[in-house]
This record gives sequence, structure tokens and C-alpha cells, in this order.
Amino acid sequence: MKNKYLHIITIGCQMNIYDSEQMAIRLKASGYKSVPFPEDAGLIIVNTCAIREKAEQKVFSLLGRLARLKKKKPELIIGVAGCVAQQEGRALLKRAPCLDLVFGTHAVSRLPAMIERIERQGGRMVETGMPDQKKLLEPDIQYDQNPNISKFVTIMQGCENFCTYCVVPYVRGREVSRKPESIIREIKKLLEFGVREVTLLGQNVNSYGNKEGFSSFPELLSSINQLKGLQRIRFTTSHPKDLSDDLINCFANLDKLCNHIHLPVQSGSNRILRRMHRKYTRENYLKKIDKLRKVCPDIAISTDLIAGFPGESESDFEDTLELMKQVEYDSIFAFKYSDRPNATAAGFNDKISDNEKLARLQRLLKLQEYFSGRKNSALTGSIQTVLVEGLSKKQDSGVQPDPNNNVQWTGRTATNKIVNFFHADDREFAGLSIADRIYAGKLVDVKIEKILLHSLQGQECRFKGGGTGYVA
Ligand code: 5AD
Ligand code: SF4
Repeated sequence: MKNKYLHIITIGCQMNIYDSEQMAIRLKASGYKSVPFPEDAGLIIVNTCAIREKAEQKVFSLLGRLARLKKKKPELIIGVAGCVAQQEGRALLKRAPCLDLVFGTHAVSRLPAMIERIERQGGRMVETGMPDQKKLLEPDIQYDQNPNISKFVTIMQGCENFCTYCVVPYVRGREVSRKPESIIREIKKLLEFGVREVTLLGQNVNSYGNKEGFSSFPELLSSINQLKGLQRIRFTTSHPKDLSDDLINCFANLDKLCNHIHLPVQSGSNRILRRMHRKYTRENYLKKIDKLRKVCPDIAISTDLIAGFPGESESDFEDTLELMKQVEYDSIFAFKYSDRPNATAAGFNDKISDNEKLARLQRLLKLQEYFSGRKNSALTGSIQTVLVEGLSKKQDSGVQPDPNNNVQWTGRTATNKIVNFFHADDREFAGLSIADRIYAGKLVDVKIEKILLHSLQGQECRFKGGGTGYVA
């Protein structure tokens, strides 16, 4: 009998996580059950990322390992999905002889039919066309009985900003938005399954619906904000050039919208921003940061930065450090520039040496360490509202983080900081197995006691008489 076990390996962004989930749901209907180890699977799919050179290298080293597995198990079907599949197409079959299937970012809905054909008649397939851009945005809304408390919801696909370093417009296609009704339907379904937080995804959610003439992004947010049972809304990513006053005002007016924004700046130098084709200046960016802080004083702000873009001088780079000092980000994602196929900057001839890119990257990270440390330390002793997601990573992997045997839970603040904490009174759960302690999905107040590099630690607190007087 055919081995109907599936293992999906996801590399890359949240959109890939969402797509992988869609693949698993669709293949479940063809009898495939997900398993945690590739060794047990009859079908392995690698969902790939092409955004930076490093992510792409990871795909090829992974395929090397899977080829060895296939040698031992020739009936194993291996497919590559996502951005590298879209970019390389047929060439991948040549480069990785272990592959049976290469399918791009617009072929997820056709996956079961492709697998069925390979099972029936063997052979190798490539599917990287972008025919039904609108249709692909209709997800299959069936979820597991125990989904996570927090889920991603893709609201649009593609990008047409053509930043000169970026491969996305070439591998994800033109911008297409999902209909608001379809998004609301999906979120309502998620709520029925116990989801309490959604993160709306798109390459640039700020331009949601612009092309189609649907409701604007602030209007969409406002309809989602009215859904009963939903506790928190997040979104990513926002292009600074399209961050409107209406959207900024949502942070003051919509109670479920978390006070966190990811606003990638990429560089603090106007000359480099121009060469990146970002269409904003350092000055407009800073103005928008001021407006955000005016309407929502405790908003957390994170960003993406590229170190060593072609032609970046020491003085351009210092402009970036200076901007970081002005904004004082809560966190940053910083990357060494790498050439991407088709992207305009790959053809620029004033490239920065790898050593210099690495040195600049380290300078960015070091400066941020100071700001993150300072911001997090200021939270010591404060009480933060946390949406409980489940057991902490340590607890879940069998490590006992507490000498008194208290169970450690994890969740996030509205500002997107991870908090690991102990329940106010574990005796409430006496006699119940950890799995039976229904706690995930609750909003709890946690007193922050310790600051770690990437997370906060604390203790849930209880308030006497409806919310005043800390007692734990
Ligand atoms: N080199 C380095 N970083 C890149 N990014 C996108 N393309 C490149 C590239 N060619 C970064 C940008 C973007 C994030 C998702 O990845 O900072 O915001
Ligand atoms: Fe890439 Fe620029 Fe589009 Fe973001 S906005 S996905 S960086 S092209």
C-alpha cells in the first residue's frame, strides 16, 4: 500500500507558513496525514524562500540530505514549492535529480492533482505558471481541532514596488488582494476553532484593495475589529510610503489592534533609499514615526535593515545608525545585502566586500542590543497583559524550568514581546494533566520579573476585587 504520510519543511516568511498549512489541508483530503519526521514520510515537500542568498543555500543543502533519504527509499516523492521553485523552475529538476515535483507560488490549489498524477503514472512535473492569481487566494478553510491561538491570514499576494534589491515581485507576481468577505469568512471560521489572534499578511498590507477598489486596509481592519471572540489583530508588512494617516489612527481607534508595527526602513541614508527605489525619504519616515507615537505613545516599532547595499559609504551607513538612535526601535531584523536574480541592484557595480558587510551588520546588531536591553529593562516590575499561547518552549520539550514544579506558560504582550511565566496558583489545576489545563487563549496579567535576551519572564498576578491591588 502507498505510504500516505506527509512531511512539509517550511523555510522563510509567515506567508510560507500559511501556504504550507494550505498544502497540508488540501493533501489531507487526498488521504495524507502529517508526520513530524521526514524518515516516516512517503511525500516530502520543501517550501522554499529566495529572499536572500542564505535562505536559498539552505534549500540546496536540505535537498542534498533528502537525496540520501531517497536513495534508501526510492518510492519517496519529493517536491519543492515556494519562491525558489518559482525562480528556478525546470532547472531545479536538473540540479536536484531526487526531485519529482517543482511547483511555484501560484500552484498550491493544484497540488493534490499533481501528486495524484505522480502516484498514478510516475514521472517528474514542473508547474510554475501564474494563471489563476485571483483563484489561489481562496483558501481551503478547514482547520485542525486544536489550532494555535494565533493564526496568520494572507490577505493579499505579490508586490509591484520593485525595490532594487528584492526578488519578491519576480517570484510572487503582481499584487492581488482577497475580497474582504472572504477574509472575514476565514477569520470567523478560525474563531469557531478557538483562535483568538490573527496576523494579516501581505507584502505591503497598506496598499490592500487599492487595485481592486475594495475597502481600504483601515476599513478592513475596522470590520475585523468588530468580530466577536477575536481578541487581537496584528498585521505585517507595511511599506512606509503607503502608511496613511487613516491607518495610523487605527492604532488609537481600534481596541483589538495590537500596539506594534513593523515598518521596514532598510537604510537611513536618502541616497541609498533612492537607489533602493523605496520612494520615501528619511525625513518622511521619521515624520510617520512621530505621528504613530503621538496617536499611540506606547507603540512598539520594529524594522528591517540591509547592511552593505551596493554603493553604501561609511557616511551612508552612519546615517542608518543615526536613524536607529533617533527612532529607538524595540527590535530589528538586519541582513547582509545579497544579489538576487533579476533584481536591479544585482547589476550595480559598486558592491561592498563581504567582510565590510559583515562588520556593518554586527555594528547594527550591537547598537540594537543596547536599545532592546534598555526598553526591556524598563519593563521590570511592570504588569503586562499577555495572550496565553500554550506551554513555554522549555516546558514543552520536557525541561522543568521551575524547581517548585510549577508549569511554565508562554504568550505575547500586545507589543509582541514573548513572556514566559508561571500561573498565579498551580493548585487550581491539581489533578489535571497539563493537556487538560485549559489556559491557552486567555488574556492574563503577568508581573515581569526577569529580562532575557529574547524574552521576558514573570509570574501571573491576581487582582483583588475586580482589578485593583496586586496580590500575587
Ligand atoms: N539582501 C539582503 N536583504 C534583503 N531583504 C530583501 N532582499 C534582500 C537582499 N537582496 C530583506 C529586506 C526585507 C526583508 C524581508 O529581507 O530587509 O525587508
Ligand atoms: Fe520586496 Fe520592496 Fe515589495 Fe517589500 S515592497 S516585497 S522589499 S519589492
